[in-house]
Formats: sequence, C-alpha cells, structure tokens
Amino acid sequence: MTPIDIQQLQIELNQKKPRAILKKALELYDNIAISFSGAEDVVLIDMAVAIRKDIQVFSLDTGRLHPETYRFIEQVRKHYQIDIELLSPDTNVLDAFVKRKGLFSFYEDGHHECCGIRKVDALARRVASLDAWITGQRRDQSVETRQAIPEVQIDNSFSTEGHTLVKFNPLLNWTSAQVWDYIEAYQVPFNALHRQGFISIGCEPCTRAILPNQHERSGRWWWEDETKKECGLHAGNIEQDASGFLES
Ligand code: ADX
Ligand code: SF4
Repeated sequence: MTPIDIQQLQIELNQKKPRAILKKALELYDNIAISFSGAEDVVLIDMAVAIRKDIQVFSLDTGRLHPETYRFIEQVRKHYQIDIELLSPDTNVLDAFVKRKGLFSFYEDGHHECCGIRKVDALARRVASLDAWITGQRRDQSVETRQAIPEVQIDNSFSTEGHTLVKFNPLLNWTSAQVWDYIEAYQVPFNALHRQGFISIGCEPCTRAILPNQHERSGRWWWEDETKKECGLHAGNIEQDASGFLES
C-alpha cells in the first residue's frame, strides 16, 4: 500500500486541466466512480471513457427527477455503452418520511430532510465501498459555497474512522461556457431540459428554468437562502479542509 499525500497531490493538480486531473485520479485509484447528475457533467464521462472504458458511474435516483432526466440517463448509457448504477433511497425510511410529511414538505421547512433521505443517505451507502469519487462541481456555480473547492480533497463528510474517501473535482476551474463548448465540439449528449431554459438541474419540484443573466443555481431551491444551497452531497464546501493523508 503506497501512502498518498493528498496535500501534495493537490499541489500537483492545482490549476490543471480537467482531463489531466481525471487521468491522475484514474491512475491512482481503481476503486473510483463518477457521480453523474444527469445534467451537463456527462462531460466527465466523455473524458473518462477515453481513459478507462470500464469506469464506474452512479446516479442518485431520488424518485423525483424529471422524465427528461431519466431519458437522458438512458441516452448516456447507450451512447457510451456503459453501466450506470441508479441508487435509490432506503424504502423504509422514505415511506415513513412521505407518510409523515407528504411529498412537498421541503417548500415549508427546507430541502435538507428530503435531500438527506433521497440523496445523501444513498450516496453515503455507495461511497462507503469506494476509495474515491469524482464530481462535476465547478467553482463558478456558487460564490457562496463553491469558490474554495480544490482539485482533490479528503471528503470529510463521508470519510469515517476506518475509511478515508477522496473526492476529485476535475471541472472546478471551468466555466459553464467551457462545459458547453466541450459539449458542442465533441457532440456530447445533454439533457433536453437545457433547451427549455434549465441550467442547473436537480429534482423536478426543486428546479425551475431561469431567465437570461440570472445565476445558474438561482433555479434550484429558489425559495431558500443562497448561502444554504448545498443539499449535503457537498456539505464539506461549507467547512472546507483539503488536507490529509491516506493509504491507497
Ligand atoms: S447539488 O448538490 O446542488 O445537487 P449539483 O447539481 O450542483 O449538486 O451537482 C454537482 C455535482 O454533484 C454533479 O456534477 C454530480 O457530480 C453530483 N451530483 C449532484 N446531484 C447528483 C445526483 N442526483 N446523482 C449523482 N451525482 C449528483
Ligand atoms: Fe427532495 Fe427536492 Fe432534495 Fe430532490 S432536491 S431530494 S425533491 S428536497
């Protein structure tokens, strides 16, 4: 087992291009997966399959995604001929939650409880058996919560005493325009909702189309405070710590 110094790796990857970050991540970790949200971060899949055909990809199926997103996930599966794991929430917990609070409680008391059950718990179960995961987060997605994300970090939100999880954010320095240039240049499939004014796409009840020049995440949980627009998948963005060592 070679020890990997994540601080040193971060210095090495600092300001590197997405493909270089992804290549390094896949070189260092076999047991690594892309967390694919069914929006534009299919760019990561496009780059990754050229490096490693059998890349692991999962998506959190909250049960509340748009029909277009489900169709898009299927399109990506066929286009790249890859397996995509769809992770569902724990049925018992979800059934009890819906029985107690119905299907739209997030409009009244915030999205954290529902996101916790439908997304974060499912993610925690999956990453518990991974050494590293890859996300499509970008710094310019949020001035409040994503400005400080590093190329690589120990994921303190999902690491446990006996298990260190590493998180790579290869697209962090790209703008939305760069993502879309790539999509056009390489004919990458994209979610049909992007043609209807949707930019950042999450669950159907919590996502709406935005107007020109509105910030891309303003259509997510629009009834809530800007500074709280993290659902728990990236809770560490609020208290950042990119340091650490682990065994690989
Ligand atoms: S969120 O936390 O607000 O929902 P966002 O939509 O900006 O996140 O996506 C950032 C990254 O989180 C995506 O590029 C993807 O890697 C991951 N992600 C978000 N939602 C999901 C999902 N439903 N399934 C898998 N990964 C997701
Ligand atoms: Fe629930 Fe909305 Fe979070 Fe989806 S985005 S899990 S519907 S609160």
